[in-house]
Amino acid sequence: MTRKLDKETQDALKKKVAEAALEYINLPRMRVGIGTGSTVNFLIDLLPRVAERIDAVVSSSEASTRRLEKHGFKVSELSEVGDLDIYIDGADECDPHNRLIKGGGGALTREKIIAWASDKFVCIVDESKMVDVLGDFPLPVEVLPMARSFVARKMVAAGGMPEYRQDFVTDNGCQILDVHNLKILDPVALESDINQIPGVITNGLFALRGADVTLIATPDGVRVQES
Ligand code: 5RP
Repeated sequence: MTRKLDKETQDALKKKVAEAALEYINLPRMRVGIGTGSTVNFLIDLLPRVAERIDAVVSSSEASTRRLEKHGFKVSELSEVGDLDIYIDGADECDPHNRLIKGGGGALTREKIIAWASDKFVCIVDESKMVDVLGDFPLPVEVLPMARSFVARKMVAAGGMPEYRQDFVTDNGCQILDVHNLKILDPVALESDINQIPGVITNGLFALRGADVTLIATPDGVRVQES
């Protein structure tokens, strides 16, 4: 069940779970994917501690790339590096099967590509992100600008309430619809169905390829939820 946390408590938990994720960068010459968001920002700030074990870093957003570069990392393109050993990223919601809603920060497409290209996907969240059923958090759908209204009508037909994310352009030059009120009882099917709509780049369900392990920060420590 989702528990609301004040910002200070939540930031302390985000830092704690980011620290726990460092233990997964535990072999020499690892190829590491880095996600996007405030939880991942804590991870990036701690990443120099394990820099000697990292052979290549790939980033899921321009924002994470800038932060990594500030810490002295050279960020590589996924196409240069090939598949990755590990991807570490946050989430907006996580269910008991490590299926996720992502894209609150708008980086969902690059995040999904890197998740699929990685041997292990470690999701890092604080306990407020845990839910029994996905869908309280509005589902982000990245669309080509010319398809926005068309996709929005399809989302209404599916029972959702799409809201155009105003004044926001993704790193891919596209737009986001945040779809409220979806009952996500079958996240695998819904992820596929939405991705079939022409003009959809991708949606923020990470169910076909969910996390392999989720690290959940609580005031009592970090809980590990394996798939
Ligand atoms: C960005 C994401 C983030 O992982 C998600 O929004 C969680 O962010 P935060 O750690 O700031 O709560 O999917 O597209």
